[in-house]
Parts: sequence; structure tokens; C-alpha cells
Amino acid sequence: PDITFVLGTRPEIIKLAPVIRECEDRSLTRSIIHTGQHYDESLDLVFFDQLALPEPTHHLEVGSSTHGRQTGEMIIRIEEILRRERPDTLLVQGDTNSVLAGAIAASKLDIDLGHVEAGLRSDDRTMPEETNRVLTDHASDYLFAPTEQSRARLRSERIPDERIYVTGNTIVDAVEQNRTLAAQRSAVLAEYDLVPGRYCLLTAHRAETIDDEQRFGDLLTGVGRVASHLEREVVYPIHPRAAKSLEAFDLDVPDGIRIVEPQNYLDFLSLEDAASLVLTDSGGVQEEACILGVPSVTLRESTERPETIDVGANRLVGTDPAAIVEGADEMIDRDGEWTNPFGNGTAATQILDTITGAERREVSPK
Ligand code: UD1
Ligand code: UDP
Repeated sequence: PDITFVLGTRPEIIKLAPVIRECEDRSLTRSIIHTGQHYDESLDLVFFDQLALPEPTHHLEVGSSTHGRQTGEMIIRIEEILRRERPDTLLVQGDTNSVLAGAIAASKLDIDLGHVEAGLRSDDRTMPEETNRVLTDHASDYLFAPTEQSRARLRSERIPDERIYVTGNTIVDAVEQNRTLAAQRSAVLAEYDLVPGRYCLLTAHRAETIDDEQRFGDLLTGVGRVASHLEREVVYPIHPRAAKSLEAFDLDVPDGIRIVEPQNYLDFLSLEDAASLVLTDSGGVQEEACILGVPSVTLRESTERPETIDVGANRLVGTDPAAIVEGADEMIDRDGEWTNPFGNGTAATQILDTITGAERREVSPK
């Protein structure tokens, strides 16, 4: 079968990279459609270069807009390409507007839709990502769930069992493929004058956090207190959206927080791997910290990655400053010896084996 990918943002590029590379090795790729949802070099091109991905076949250059306009324009353009090229299968990954657009376009054209990272739920429908996940899962023919927990969730929503495949998360493949390279090639610690185990790493970019002045302000206050309480600098590679919010709200950044540019993948992995604690509202960063054995606190009210909490790698603290300090204080002493719940780094192979029918799944009892 020939396979087309739709992607558009940083996490999709990173998490689809192992699948695209495997697809290239097997000569199965039909097209890569880049929606252009992310367009800054630091969120986009840098990952294509570093992860040795082929250039997108089509670039839609949709850019930023309201959700309806952005998603709508993507659907129109993706549909045109799919009608022309008629791939057998369209693969999307994750929960962004690009994913939803790909899902809607494919499902109307009788092209098989595969959703990589299916079955995640925060149960918070105010988050755009939650709506995107639910709709995409329910339109999919292949649901590649990272864990048994996500499979159970899909079953509880009455998605037919024979569509669900537990493969692990492709982020494990990506971390395994790049961790050693990062250690060999990244000079980011020296560049920022950081000592392993003597600093913390922060990322915060979600709409729910940084579009609200009070929440973003509380988050910065709390993380600033963590820096002084733990006597560790907090390094914050800032997403352009968060940088714009910071400026628009004219928020004070506490002394212990050092804002730096968004990082390329190897530099970011190095920063995560050597941090004593990760503070984040990102999905992918919660997973990576857990895989790397670095404790984290999640600066949100809910997480669609409860496995990280269940194994003791993560704690949900919200944005209340006192709760952030308390959570950081507890988590920093964790030894990192938990079991990675996201699979063994063969997700990409399993996904392609499934699509090509090389491996028939065992149907589990209902
Ligand atoms: C999107 C995803 C989010 C994901 C994140 C990964 C949706 C609804 N959200 O959020 O789930 O966690 O990507 O990073 O799909 N901008 C730039 N440069 C860019 C892209 C965006 O400056 O290259 C700024 C613009 O001001 C834009 C804002 O970021 O208005 C939001 O961009 P958008 O693509 O809508 O969502 P993200 O916040 O990046
Ligand atoms: N990441 C990166 N550089 C950065 C910040 C994050 O390479 O400066 C990577 C990180 O390793 C992870 C992914 O981006 O794999 C997470 O993406 P993001 O936080 O933007 O989105 P989310 O996972 O929350 O959807």
C-alpha cells in the first residue's frame, strides 16, 4: 500500500520521523503533506534537517489563524491532493488542528485513516487538543494506541476492537534513535554554561496556560520560587506563542528563570536528559522526561498521559505557585528508576507491519 502523511507542527514532525524513515526504507511513501501550521524555522525546518527527513511533497502554507479558518483551509487543500493522488492510507499523529484536518479529509474520501497516538484523553473538552483527538479517533480505521490504558479508553467509547493496535508511542523510537547522538553532538550544556543535575528545564506553550494572564503569571511566579527554593536555575526554551503572550501581558520573569530560544531536537534532548527536574505543560515533554528517567511536574489541571503519574515519574500540580513548589520539592528526589510505560521503541515498525498486513493481530476478547 502507498502511504501519505499529513503533518504540520513540531511534535508531529518529531513523532512521525521514525515512521516516515521506516516508510522510506520500505518504499511505501506516497506523499508528505505539510500543512504549514508551524512555519518558524525553529519549530519546523530544523527538525526536518536534523531528523534526516525528506522534504515535504506538498506544502500548504496555511499558517496561523482562528481554529475554523486554519482547519478549514487545510481540509480543502488536503482533499485536493488526496483526490488526485489516491493513497491507500493516510497517517496522522497526535492532536493538533493539522491532524483533525487530515482525518476529516481522508474519512470523506474512503481512504484508510491511521491515527498514531490514539486513545489519549484529558477529559477536558475546553482544550482544542481534546476535541481533535476524540474526533480523529472516531474517524480512524487504524488506531495505534501507545498503551493498554489508551486501548481500554477506545473500547469504552465503543470503537471496534479490530481497529485498535497497541504499539507503544513512537516517541520512544525517536528518543532511542537520538539520545546517543545528542550526547555525542550537542554542545548546548557548555554553550549555556549548565552543569548536569544542577538546573531545571521548563516548557509552557499551551493555549489554556499562556493565553490567560493570571495563569501564565502564576506559573512564572511558582517556577521562580522553585528556582530559589531548589537553588537551581530554570532554563525555559520559549515557544513563539508564549513569547508573544509574555510580551502582550508585560509579565515579569523571575530572576531564576532563563529564557532561551526554542531548541533543535538534539539540544532539547540533551537539556532534558541532564536536568534534575522538568516542569512542563507539553504532552511530548511529559513522555520524554519519563522515558529518560527525569522526574517532572505538569503545570496543568489534567493530563492525557496518566501513565507517567502511575509509574511515579510525574505529578500534576496546576499553576498555583504553592502547589508548583510543593510538587517540585517532592519530585526532585525521585530516583528515575521507574519503568517506561510507552513501549520498547518498535512502534514505527509495528505500525507499518500492521498497515502492510505483514503481521495479523490477535483479536483480544471483548
Ligand atoms: C499547536 C497545537 C498544540 C501543540 C503545539 C505544539 C493546535 C490547536 N495546537 O499549538 O496542541 O502542543 O502546536 O507546539 O493544533 N506561531 C508562531 N510561529 C509558528 C507557529 C505559530 O509564531 O511557526 C504563533 C502564532 O502567533 C500563532 C500561535 O503561535 O498564532 C499559535 O499557533 P498554532 O499553530 O495555532 O498553535 P500552537 O500554539 O503552536
Ligand atoms: N522540543 C524541542 N525543542 C524545544 C521544545 C520542545 O525539540 O525547544 C520537542 C520535545 O523534545 C518534544 C516535542 O518538542 O518531542 C514536544 O512538542 P510541544 O511541546 O511543542 O508539543 P506537545 O507535545 O505539547 O503537543
